[in-house]
Amino acid sequence: MKFEGATESVEIREGLEGLTPARIATLYRRAPLVRSIYSAEQIWSMYEASTHVYAAWQNDHLVGIARVLSDGVLQSYLCDLAVEPDVQRSGVGKALLNRIVEACRGTELILRDSTLSASFYEHLGFKRVDNAWRMNIKG
Ligand SMILES: CC(C)(COP(=O)(O)OP(=O)(O)OC[C@H]1O[C@@H](n2cnc3c(N)ncnc32)[C@H](O)[C@@H]1OP(=O)(O)O)[C@@H](O)C(=O)NCCC(=O)NCCS
Repeated sequence: MKFEGATESVEIREGLEGLTPARIATLYRRAPLVRSIYSAEQIWSMYEASTHVYAAWQNDHLVGIARVLSDGVLQSYLCDLAVEPDVQRSGVGKALLNRIVEACRGTELILRDSTLSASFYEHLGFKRVDNAWRMNIKG
């Protein structure tokens, strides 16, 4: 799927092809998407374990990424969504999210926001919930 972004056309592709831990880490750092990730192995493991991965490419340059864990029936969890600052506000995040929504149709899509992204999700029709709990399980 191709669409016209701010400058050049951006293509959304499914899967891990072309991705590397270094490319993903650079995108997270620049977006910024703050994650406690320490090694290339950990990053790759996260991506290999994901149910769906979508990447946005502009001339073979990684400009956006989204990944989700889904059981395909009830629940889907949007783990990460990040867009390169140079192309933010040009529709890339929404295009990635649209692909996730299509892939997870029929399930409830949940996510954690940040002060940077809360209004983005609200703008796109997500509803805030107050019945979520979390536990950090030390490894
Ligand atoms: C949040 C993020 C993914 C949005 O991506 P993006 O490509 O800039 O968003 P889009 O251009 O697709 O925006 C889609 C719509 O949301 C709006 N929007 C984008 N960012 C917004 C924000 N922070 N607040 C309110 N609306 C926002 C756009 O104006 C656009 O509106 P429209 O469809 O009515 O024209 C991107 O800013 C980002 O990577 N931020 C840093 C990492 C992050 O916070 N990720 C989310 C993790 S919880």
